[in-house]
Order: sequence, then structure tokens, then C-alpha cells
Amino acid sequence: MMMTLFLFLSLAPQEGAVATSEPYATVATSSIFAEGGNAVDAAVAASFALAVTYPAAGNLGGGGFFLYRTPQGEAHFLDFRETAPAASHPDLYLDASGKVNKSASRLGWRAVGIPGSVTGMAEAHRRWGRLPWKKVLAPAIWLAEDGYVLTKKSSQSLAWAAKYFAKDPMASSVFLDTHGTSWPAGHRLKQPELAATLRLIAEKGGDAFRRGPLVDGILKASRAGGGILTAEDFRDYRPEMRPVHHFHWQGLELLTLSPPSSGGVFLEQTLTSLVHPKLSILGPMAGWTVQCIGEATALAFQDRNRWLGDPDGFDFAWTDLVAEDYLNHRRKFLSGDRFTPTSAPLNHPFLESEETTHFSVMDPQGGAVSVTTTLNGAYGAKVMAPGGFLMNNEMDDFAAAPGTANQFGLVQGKYNAVVAGRRPLSSMSPVIVVKEGRVDAVLGSPGGPTILTTVMQVLLNRYLFTMNPKAAMAFPRFHRQDLPEVLHFEPGRLNDFSRAYLKRVGQPMKRRSSLGDVNAIFWWEGEWRAFTDPRHEGLGL
Ligand code: GLY
Repeated sequence: MMMTLFLFLSLAPQEGAVATSEPYATVATSSIFAEGGNAVDAAVAASFALAVTYPAAGNLGGGGFFLYRTPQGEAHFLDFRETAPAASHPDLYLDASGKVNKSASRLGWRAVGIPGSVTGMAEAHRRWGRLPWKKVLAPAIWLAEDGYVLTKKSSQSLAWAAKYFAKDPMASSVFLDTHGTSWPAGHRLKQPELAATLRLIAEKGGDAFRRGPLVDGILKASRAGGGILTAEDFRDYRPEMRPVHHFHWQGLELLTLSPPSSGGVFLEQTLTSLVHPKLSILGPMAGWTVQCIGEATALAFQDRNRWLGDPDGFDFAWTDLVAEDYLNHRRKFLSGDRFTPTSAPLNHPFLESEETTHFSVMDPQGGAVSVTTTLNGAYGAKVMAPGGFLMNNEMDDFAAAPGTANQFGLVQGKYNAVVAGRRPLSSMSPVIVVKEGRVDAVLGSPGGPTILTTVMQVLLNRYLFTMNPKAAMAFPRFHRQDLPEVLHFEPGRLNDFSRAYLKRVGQPMKRRSSLGDVNAIFWWEGEWRAFTDPRHEGLGL
């Protein structure tokens, strides 16, 4: 009898695990498991809840990537990234003298790509969800109607954006008081227009974003704000199923994404080249280690920015970038002995925080979902549609002009030019790690290009430097892309010795307060456990 009870307890399935950047969204999501939902139901609920409680990045007016591994082990990549409106053209963001008008691709209605979040979530739910659609939408509707209490950090974030909201009557009616001041910490933010929008989505599904009053409202606001969106753009938008990019490393199978994400190529190029025995021997703090990893990431960014974009625009096989011969060739050059200039030094400061958000979900049956979703910059284009939701500025992820930096300092090539109907290249990198047939980790991060180096470092910390999950998440990070050649590092990442070493080899360096916001699930001590980034206010359950 005792034995049976013991077996039952030790084999009792856990309820599922979820990690998001916002506690209300996590709680709302975990309630879906109590209703009998699977990881896809829970992820769809998380996405809509974040659109209410995390307006800087959670969204209805943006896009993202949905990576799903079924309990049976099939993997799927649903791309719901924004597309360029049909009226787009390569010169859209150039002024009369041919120079890039940077604010046009970042602020206001001209910066907006055709959003995919609502149709994407509806498609994920249609394919793999288990609960009724309305049930999955219910927590978000309730949060919008009943409100949520702003934390110090979320009110500071609104205060940062207040000057932009002040220019948009709809956004100011939601986020500012009658004096034009953003709501303080402790304020319960209710969003009745957004609740009505969510109710309509609960009624109509993805079609609510193809035609009807929501689209009419968006088009009217876009026209008034100088945008180029049309009814056909919304009618024609389709989420796409894309190949999952999987590769093997350290005895693990990594499920990552193919273009228009640069995540799969970047992670395979960097992780599989970082196999030098010196790395494990010297450990993560050594200057040589930091320099070697930085050289690998700079090199991978060169390929990313030159070759990648919407796969519909490629006239070559992107898989050549991860072909064995090519990776072997590159590996030969990799070392922590030197700094390799990637061009004449340029100074592209990070102009604003890279707001995107990632959440990870596991269901009790072993289904795993890894989703990164974004408005691009914080609060996107800083314009709100009449239905009470913010619109993305994803058009800035295209290369407005080859050789000119975007808001993240990325200087990109012709394959990422602004072309009608195309999706801009993305750094969003949701990942699922499989070990001996069982999901071992689900993770991802926001951070523009720093997504790539953040996700890579958590994987290196956990699987190469064998840190426990908490340490792998907390360990200070750094970031190096090709341009600028500066290595950005969080406090504590470099000690006196490693800093002196990097200085000696000629590596420019700059301190950065924080990099990434990883929400992950790891198999740890016999169950899937949610881990959130100690840098932020997320909650894992
Ligand atoms: N908007 C950030 C990214 O897609 O990389």
C-alpha cells in the first residue's frame, strides 16, 4: 500500500510550467492548465494577457515566432512576423537627398508593418490548441476589464514613453491622466477599449484582424497619421509555417528557427564553433574566453547582416551558412588571442531599449512552447489604434538603406531591403533543447540583436560551463556584434584580469546596465521548472 502511494506521488504529473516577464500574465496562463489546456492554449493565453499587462512589448499590433514541440516530439515553427505593406518600396525611408529618415521607420504610422499576432495566435490555436478559443481569451479580457496594478518598474516605463503618448490622443487616454502625466505605481490600469477589442477577437478569431471594425479603425488612424496601410494588406496577411532549424551540440538537439529569424544560423554558427578545449579549461571569467566568444559572435553577425532576410527574397541556399565545410573553415580562425576588426570603428549607440518579450511554457504531457513576440521598439511606433492597442515599428528591422545602421546599430544588406509583402530579418530566437528524447530547456529573450548573444550565453553557461539553471540565467552577460566593434558588458562580467586582457588585445569595451530578459523552463531535479531573469520582474510558476 505504502509502496503504491509512494509510486503514485513520485509519478504524479506536474501541472505544467510557465515563465513570462509579467506576474499577472503568468498567473493567468497557469490557470489554463487548471482548465485542462495544453501548452499551446496556455501560450496563446499568455500572449493575449501580455498584450494587456505588458504594453511595452506584449501586443496585438505586432508579431513574433511560435516554436512548438508536441509531446510526441514533432516540432513546428509558426512565423507570425509583420510584413511590409503593399505600398512599401526600397526608398520608403529615404529623404529627397537619398539619406535615411530614421524617425520615419521608428515613430508614427509609416513605421508600422502588417501585424501578425492575432492571426498567428488564432492559427496556433486552430492547429494545436485543445480548449475552446473563448476560454483561452478569457483571462486577457478579465485583466483588461478589471485592470492590473502598475509596479514601480512598469510605471517608470510608462513615464519614459509619456512624451510619445502625449502626441497620440488614443494612447494618452489610456496611459496618461487628464494632466498628461503617466500613471504612478499602485494605479490599477483598466483598459475598457482593449477589453472590447479582445471580446471581438474572442468572437471572430483571427478574422477580427483581417476585416471589420478593428481593421477599419487601424486604417483610418493610419491614413490620418501619414501611414500606407491598406485593407488588402490585412486581408492578405498569412502566418507561415517554416522549417524548424535543428542541430546537434554537446550531445543535445537544439530546435531553433530558420529565416526570417537569424537565430538558428547564429546559434549553430557560434555554439558549434565554440568547442575549443581551452574554453572549458579556462572557464567563463577568463579574458581569453570572453574574447573568443566575442570573436565568434562578431563573425556570425557579419554573415547575419550580409546574407539573411525574408527567405522569399533569397537567391542562394541559406543552409550553406551552416554547412559542415563552411563551419570547419570558420572554426580555424577562431581564437581568444586577438581582436579582429570587422571594419573601421563606427559608433552606433543603442538608441533605445530593445523591447520584445519571450515566454516559455511546458504542459504536463511534455508539450513545449517557446514564443518571442514584439512591437520592436518599446511601445512600438508609439501610436495606438482606436481599439486600444499599440502598433509595431517593425519596419525599422529592414535595412532602410544598405550600409546604414538601424536603431540597434545593425548595418544590413540587400537581402533585408524594404520590399512589399516581405518580413524583416529578426533576431528573435525561441529555442527548445532536447536531451535523450525529453525536453531539457525552453528559452528565449528580448533584446534586439542582443537576443542572439543572450540566448547563446545561457546555453553556453548551462551546457558548456555546466552551471545550474539559476546561475546560467543570472551570470552577467556581454554582447558583441560586428558593428560597432565594441564589446558591451554587464557589471560583474569582466574582472580586473579579463578587462586588462581585453584591453591588451585591443578590444574596445563599454559597460551596459543590463542585457536580455530570459524566461526559461529547465528540467531540473526531476521536473520542469520555470526560471525568470533576476534582472527583471517576471514570474515563473
Ligand atoms: N524586433 C526585434 C527583432 O525582431 O529582432
